[in-house]
Amino acid sequence: MRSSGQGCWVLLISVGLCCVHRARPRNVLLILADDGGFESGAYNNSAISTPHLDALARRSLVFRNAFTSVSSCSPSRASLLTGLPQSVVFPGKYKSQSPMGRTCGPVRRGVKDGENLSEDAKSGACEGPASLLAASEWNVRPAPGCPPLQLLRPGAEPATAAGPSWHSHRPFFLYVAFHDPHRCGHSQPQYGAFCEKFGNGESGMGRIPDWTPQTYNPKDVQVPYFVPDTPAARADLAAQYTTIGRMDQGIGLVLQELRGAGVLNDTLVIFTSDNGIPFPSGRTNLYWPGTAEPMLVSSPEHPKRWGQVSEAYVSLLDLTPTILDWFSIPYPSYAIFGTKTVQLTGRSLLPVLEAEPLWTTVFGSQSYHEVTMSYPMRSVHHQNFHLVHNLHFKMPFPIDQDFYISPTFQDLLNRTTAGQPTGWYKDLHQYYYRERWELYDRNQDPHETHNLAADPRYTQVLELLQTQLVKWQWETHDPWVCAPDGVLEEKLAPQCRPLHNEL
Ligand SMILES: *[C@@H]1O[C@H](CO)[C@@H](O)[C@H](O)[C@H]1NC(C)=O
Ligand SMILES: *[C@@H]1O[C@H](CO)[C@@H](O)[C@H](O)[C@H]1NC(C)=O
Ligand SMILES: *[C@@H]1O[C@H](CO)[C@@H](O)[C@H](O)[C@H]1NC(C)=O
Ligand SMILES: *[C@@H]1O[C@H](CO)[C@@H](O)[C@H](O)[C@H]1NC(C)=O
Repeated sequence: MRSSGQGCWVLLISVGLCCVHRARPRNVLLILADDGGFESGAYNNSAISTPHLDALARRSLVFRNAFTSVSSCSPSRASLLTGLPQSVVFPGKYKSQSPMGRTCGPVRRGVKDGENLSEDAKSGACEGPASLLAASEWNVRPAPGCPPLQLLRPGAEPATAAGPSWHSHRPFFLYVAFHDPHRCGHSQPQYGAFCEKFGNGESGMGRIPDWTPQTYNPKDVQVPYFVPDTPAARADLAAQYTTIGRMDQGIGLVLQELRGAGVLNDTLVIFTSDNGIPFPSGRTNLYWPGTAEPMLVSSPEHPKRWGQVSEAYVSLLDLTPTILDWFSIPYPSYAIFGTKTVQLTGRSLLPVLEAEPLWTTVFGSQSYHEVTMSYPMRSVHHQNFHLVHNLHFKMPFPIDQDFYISPTFQDLLNRTTAGQPTGWYKDLHQYYYRERWELYDRNQDPHETHNLAADPRYTQVLELLQTQLVKWQWETHDPWVCAPDGVLEEKLAPQCRPLHNEL
């Protein structure tokens, strides 16, 4: 998430191909929701209308077990675009200066560069293809002085010489990251909790000409298990649905432009979201609601599994390998910090478009969201088991500004302090104070409420998942690999040195 005014970030990279001989170039369109979840017909939510996502799903493989590796917008996008976990691409030096604003901007560097991977354009600047597109996406105000979006209009030349056009016969990677359905209560409350009123034509809201707002009755929304079933939360969800409808119509427009330009059938289209929805146990958490993502992968060359649902455990870390695979680009050899060669731990999803694999493991890594929210966690899903390691388990779980002010959380706080029923599946004390290790059997306990980590019957499972997790941490050069009971001393053996801190 981010709090700056720009709403939709777009990255356009012209990909140089050396060895692929195809009459028509292959392209990629990556569509990202901001804090989006499973509120779509494509994921069997019948309370919301998302015709464009549903149509895309009919030409896609629909993933049921897709996870982000990190439950926070900026590091999630950095991870998604690099294929590297946040502990590698998003260490403190990128996050500490600016908790939110800058680092959710358009990431302009490609995967070929090992350095400054999350460098972004200054908000509102108008130079270069990224801001050219970002300036005029249809659901936020254009930055002052920026040219309108022409790149997607067939026949139109881009507004700057730097921007490639569809007609150059060069392959493209187009990254369209919507601001919807992000919350607004913290940054622009005048537009509603989810900016659901922005552009709806009412007084002071402006008008988005190609958006037909859909409103929802709070009585009709589907309340996910991790959201309290209260009038306040239902109204919050109804606002979120309207915002998702705006994104859905935007997705329809983008796809229509590509279709009209005659390039859609050469384009791999991927839709997903950066992190869980901004509700309790969602965004900023590594629990299922914080990390499970919608993911649609639509390849014109792989119609075999269109409309099917895959159970494979996949990660947003798989998207970089997938896109490189689509373009037949090998991953370059380079080091980020010192001499450690960077390796991708994700894998291409293209084979899954042909046949269901037996993939059962994905990893998660979170260090912070806002600058005051240091709460490092690492996690692994393996088959039906989910392990979360809370490194700072002795401190209360931090709450971000945007979620704090949400009607759902305010209502939860009010009810808790007043001693009223909360309608929630947890209580605040549980939510704030977590065990160091949390182990859940999602077959028996899909809501992750019964921690098995201390249960002797699950000792072997616990040890297996702990071993997998720490192995992944070493492989990905995780600076937290020895924490919280040790300190990493890379030049010594053993490398984890004890702190004797009673943990
Ligand atoms: C939606 O429901 C149908 C029928 O129960 C099921 O077959 C399908 O897998 C579900 N889709 C998803 C994405 O869960
Ligand atoms: C990012 O990398 C490029 C190329 O290595 C370099 O020219 C530029 O100065 C770097 N920017 C920052 C902010 O480090
Ligand atoms: C789309 O592309 C596929 C695979 O390249 C091809 O088989 C199909 O005929 C194309 N469809 C259209 C309408 O061009
Ligand atoms: C919570 O309580 C405060 C103080 O009484 C009140 O102003 C606010 O409207 C309440 N919020 C909700 C969502 O009920």
